[in-house]
Amino acid sequence: MVSRASGGISAILAAFLLLSPASTESGVRVDPTTQSFVDSTGRSVLFHGINVVGKNSRKEQELSEKQMDVMKDLGFNVARVGLSWDLYETEPGLFDETYLDFVEAQVNALGRRGILSFLDMHQDLLAKQYCGHGLPEWHMWPSDSDDFHRNGRWAFPQPVAKPKYGPNDTYSGPYGRISNCGEAESGKIGWAGLYMTRALSNAAQLLYNNESGRLDAFADFWRKVARRFRSNEYVLAYELINEPWLGDVFADASLLIPSRADKVGLSHRQVPRAASA
Ligand SMILES: *[C@@H]1O[C@H](CO)[C@@H](O)[C@H](O)[C@H]1NC(C)=O
Ligand SMILES: *[C@@H]1O[C@H](CO)[C@@H](O)[C@H](O)[C@H]1NC(C)=O
Repeated sequence: MVSRASGGISAILAAFLLLSPASTESGVRVDPTTQSFVDSTGRSVLFHGINVVGKNSRKEQELSEKQMDVMKDLGFNVARVGLSWDLYETEPGLFDETYLDFVEAQVNALGRRGILSFLDMHQDLLAKQYCGHGLPEWHMWPSDSDDFHRNGRWAFPQPVAKPKYGPNDTYSGPYGRISNCGEAESGKIGWAGLYMTRALSNAAQLLYNNESGRLDAFADFWRKVARRFRSNEYVLAYELINEPWLGDVFADASLLIPSRADKVGLSHRQVPRAASA
């Protein structure tokens, strides 16, 4: 747990991290004067972190006992453990508790080896309709406007690429869903380029704006997670969302100014509050 060797996890603390104000069940807390992690006896704690994130299924995130033993032997003492909203809430209002059972079992198995976890609500490109994952697709549609609907001028992935609607698109609502994610992600664009699509940017902003209660829904998701884990001694922190997008950069280009989006986007109080509930 306590180590004097160098190393750290700053590189993987991609979004924001929430520690309970005083200390976690594990006894680790942040010393406000030094801004460093300390254990229950006040000694500095240095972390050696490893990523344990399966993006699209729990299967991708499974670890064998042997793999966890190796992680311990290599000196890791913290893991960033994936926790996807869309793998937990699988249909509107339907929470698959067996998914949390899975994450909890993994956290406990790592914890018994001296590896603390921080739970990462992992997302890339928000949700399925943007060739991404992490957030439930029904909460992540853009504004209800012809511009964003199927074949509209800002239908995803405009203006980055032209949409192609395929035979396997099971979505029957007004927006349409492209079938050429692989194509859109490859070659010249690259997956991260899809953040510069009007639909995705708009949808991210609507989350921050709590449009139709979607930010409340996000807070509810975290509230449920926090209730499950609040007395788990192996949970160090919650990473509320991985790499949150800036918001609607087409409506407000100033969001592109470094650090500005931090102040106006997901810094809404209710999500952190829910997670500490
Ligand atoms: C549609 O699904 C079929 C069967 O899984 C697959 O063979 C085909 O390649 C898919 N087409 C597209 C455009 O994704
Ligand atoms: C979020 O939006 C919903 C639906 O419009 C609303 O009922 C709720 O009060 C909003 N939450 C906050 C914190 O404003």
